[in-house]
Amino acid sequence: MKTHTLLMPLDMHLHLRDGVMLENIAPLTAYSFSGAIIMPNLVPPVTTKEDVIAYRERVMAAVPNDYFEPYMTLFYQNYDRAFLNDVAEEITAIKLYPAGITTNSEGGVSSFDIEEMRPTLEAMSELDIPLCVHGETDGFVMDREAEFMSIYELLAKNFPKLKIIMEHITTKEAVAMLDKYENLYATITVHHLLLTLDDVIGGMMMPHHFCKPIAKRPEDLDALLSVALEAHPKVMFGSDSAPHPREKKEACGCAAGVFTAPIALQLLCEIFEQFDKLDNLQDFVSDNAQRIYGICPEFKEVTLERRPFVVPEIYGNVVPLYAGETLNWAIESVE
Ligand code: NCD
Ligand code: ZN
Repeated sequence: MKTHTLLMPLDMHLHLRDGVMLENIAPLTAYSFSGAIIMPNLVPPVTTKEDVIAYRERVMAAVPNDYFEPYMTLFYQNYDRAFLNDVAEEITAIKLYPAGITTNSEGGVSSFDIEEMRPTLEAMSELDIPLCVHGETDGFVMDREAEFMSIYELLAKNFPKLKIIMEHITTKEAVAMLDKYENLYATITVHHLLLTLDDVIGGMMMPHHFCKPIAKRPEDLDALLSVALEAHPKVMFGSDSAPHPREKKEACGCAAGVFTAPIALQLLCEIFEQFDKLDNLQDFVSDNAQRIYGICPEFKEVTLERRPFVVPEIYGNVVPLYAGETLNWAIESVE
């Protein structure tokens, strides 16, 4: 039986939510990942040191063992230097959302006025706190990410020492930015390595394929695959696994978010094997992130086996991507 072992897998973009959802969902990631960057878009968002500490404690209480590190984040606002100094050791990054662009982002940034943001972003540069960005404008849905590239350029040029992570990139334009600015990095989800807009609305409308940013064109998928499969040194895996209760997805007015946490590693094995690039998966799913973020996760060894795995129809009240379908890889053991 063919197997593939991954050491310290990391999910560099994860939504865990809160309350009962957190309790149901967090153990799934903690099982197969060493750590994850935890998104701060709760209601209300995580904006104070007390919020970060309390949320971290709730996450730790929801996972069954100590072999999982939640890398906490703050929701971007124009914070002052004294606050950032004080909170720096509790967080791994700060997440910036344009206001209203996606789920629970109403308190985000409404104008990208560099001078208004400068004190915060300079302090973050000096304290070496990376800025994770949901890079979409409020333009036409297929153009939102490409339109945001000028804002990435503005940020990258004005704050050359700031590590800027282009989150969940979906376009060839974003891929091209990676080699243009030294301080730009990216995360890529597994569903954006599999889906195009056709898979969302090309046939029957598929609510469990719907997320922000929306899956794009075949040429965008190819561009994402090219950097993921080569484990380009500036790209990292970030699932953007974003659980919503079934009734919020299978509804008139479907919530944005694809739930992949429990099947992400299996799908990544399938994709990397298909292109004969399994040897690069370790870099994509852990080593690049360790180097970029300067983190050192606790040891965890995940062995996957090439055998049929039927994706459960539902986890609690959350429907995963490919529910009921058969994947080629299964998790065999975690040590
Ligand atoms: C995310 C969520 O549900 O919190 N939704 C999504 O479609 N990805 C928010 C986000 O990352 O945009
Ligand atoms: Zn997200």
